[in-house]
Amino acid sequence: MGQIPSPDRRRSGLSRPFARTLAPALSRAAVFCAGLLFALGAVAADKPGKAAIASAHYLATEAGHEVLDKGGNAFDAAIAVSAALAVVEQTSSGIGGGGFWVLHRAEDGFEVMVDGREQAPAAATRDMYLDENGDVNRDLAVNGPLAAGVPGEIAALAHIAEHYGKLSLAESLAPAVRIAREGFPVYEKFHTILGWALPHIKRWPAASEAFLVDGDIPPMGHVIRLPDLAVVLERVGAEGPEVFYEGDIARQLVEGVREAGGIWTLEDMAAYEVVEREPIRTEYNGYELVTASPPSSGGVAIAEMLNILEPWPLARLDRAQRAHLIVEAMRRAYRDRALYLGDPDFFSVPVERLTSQYYADGLRAGIHPSKATPSNMLPGNDGFREGSDTTHFSILDADGNMVAATLTVNLGFGNRFMVPGTGFVLNNEMDDFSAKEGEPNAFGLIGFEANAIEPRKRPLSSMSPTFIKGPDKVGILGTPGGSRIITMVLLGILDFMDGNDPEHWVSLPRFHHQYVPDRISAEEGAFTDEELDALRAMGHDVQVSTRRWGNMHGVLWNRETGAVSAGSDPRSDAGRAIVR
Ligand code: GLY
Repeated sequence: MGQIPSPDRRRSGLSRPFARTLAPALSRAAVFCAGLLFALGAVAADKPGKAAIASAHYLATEAGHEVLDKGGNAFDAAIAVSAALAVVEQTSSGIGGGGFWVLHRAEDGFEVMVDGREQAPAAATRDMYLDENGDVNRDLAVNGPLAAGVPGEIAALAHIAEHYGKLSLAESLAPAVRIAREGFPVYEKFHTILGWALPHIKRWPAASEAFLVDGDIPPMGHVIRLPDLAVVLERVGAEGPEVFYEGDIARQLVEGVREAGGIWTLEDMAAYEVVEREPIRTEYNGYELVTASPPSSGGVAIAEMLNILEPWPLARLDRAQRAHLIVEAMRRAYRDRALYLGDPDFFSVPVERLTSQYYADGLRAGIHPSKATPSNMLPGNDGFREGSDTTHFSILDADGNMVAATLTVNLGFGNRFMVPGTGFVLNNEMDDFSAKEGEPNAFGLIGFEANAIEPRKRPLSSMSPTFIKGPDKVGILGTPGGSRIITMVLLGILDFMDGNDPEHWVSLPRFHHQYVPDRISAEEGAFTDEELDALRAMGHDVQVSTRRWGNMHGVLWNRETGAVSAGSDPRSDAGRAIVR
C-alpha cells in the first residue's frame, strides 16, 4: 500500500527568496510511473499532444486556453483560470480567498501542493466568535470582515508563475483583467447564489454596487463589470504580489477591514506565506493517487477510505452491497477527520497512521458485511451539513503537465464584504475552524483541538484536488461542495476505476455519509427503489434529496489510445470542458 511521506514544506515569503522545488529532480511519482511502465512493457504515449481544461465557467476555461496558445504551460493556464474565476465566479472563489493547487511537472515527474490557504490574523483568539453565554455568534462567524482569514490566492498565483510557469504573471493575469473590464453576463448559478446572499450583500455598499442593480439581483444576462478588480489584478501583474501584501493595496484592505469591524493588520498581510507541501499519495488497484495534504482533510480521508475498500471486489458486488461498504468507509474517515485533522504547522496530524494499511485493516475488520454501524458506536461526536460553494478546475497541457486546483472563499460570495475600491469580496474561511469544540460550522462540520482557532493558523479544509495515475491512463478531478467534496471525489475515483470517462464521473448521481448525522443523503437516481430497500434493511437511514450537489470538472488522458477527454458537471449552467 501507499507510502505516505512525512509532510515536507517550503515557505514562500513575499519579498524573500525561496527554494524552487520540494525535492530532487525525480520524485517518487516519477519512479513509480516509470516502474509500472517498465513492468508492463506498455507502449504508452509520453505526451498527450493536446490540452484539456475543465472549469466552472466557460470564460475561465477559454482564458486558460488563451494562455496556452500564447506559449504558456499548464501552470500558466492555472493562473489564468484561477484569476478568471476570481472575476466571474465570486460566488465560489477569488483573490479575497485561497485554495490548493496540486501540480505535476511532466519533464521530471515533480509534484507539489501549493498551499494558498487563508491564515488567521494574529489577533484571532479561540473564543472570538463566542457570545457572553459561550454560544457561537453565527453572524460574526460568517458575515463581514471578522470572518475573513488573510487571503492566499494572489501569493499562490505569483508563486506558481515564478517557479513553474513560462509566462510572466502579468501575461497570465491578462485575460482576467480584460474580463473584469469588459464584463460577464449573469448566469443561472450566479443569479441563484446572489439571491441567497442578497440580504448580506446589501449590508455592504461596495459589494452592493458591484453586484446589484437598484439594490436588487440583476436579471440573467445583465453584464457585470468590475473595473476596480481589473486595476488590482493589473497592478499585481505589473508590480508583483508585494503591492497586495505589503504595498498600498494592503493598506487599503487593512483600513477597509478594520473600519468595518475586522482585526487584520499590515503585519498580518506582510506575514502571509505560500507553503509548498508534499501531496498525500496512496495506491489503489495499481493506480497512484496524488491528492491534497493537510491543512486539507481531503487527501487523508480519501486514502483512508480507499485503503479500507481496496480488498473488496467492488465492481462485482451488487450495487446496494457496494454502497453499504463505501458508506461504512466514509463514516470512519469522517470520524477521523473531526478528531485528528487540522493545520499541520500547529497540530501534529497523524497522517502516517491514518493513511496506513494497518490502520485501514483494523477499521475494515469492524465493518459488518450487511449491517450499518451506528455512528454513536464509534468514538467521536456529532454534526455536519453540506455546502455548495468553492470551485475546482482540472488542466492537462500538450506536454503532460497537470494541475488539479480547488479554490474557495467558503460560503457563497464569502463573507459578502467588499473593501471599497477593490472589486472583490473577502472570504469567511475563519468558519472552517472549530469556533467551539464539537459545535457544527456552516457545513455542519465539527472539530476539536486540532482545528481550534489560533493566530496565523490555517483552517481545516475539505478541498481535494486529485490526480489518478496509471500506466494506461491518467485522471485529474475535484469538486466544490463543502463537507461533501471528499465523498464526491471518492465516487469519481471509483468511477474512473470502473473504466468510465470524465463526462460520466461528473454526471454520476451522488451519495454521501459523514459520520454524523448518521444518515446517507442521496441525489435522485443514485439508488433504485430496490437498492433503497436493501440499504434500509441493513440499518441505514437514507434520505433522497431533490437537491443536487457538487460541480465536478475532470480530465482524462488515455495513454494507450492517446485520447484526451474532459467533462464539466451538468449541475451548473456555466461550466465548460474544452480539449484542443
Ligand atoms: N471552505 C470549504 C473548504 O475549504 O473545505
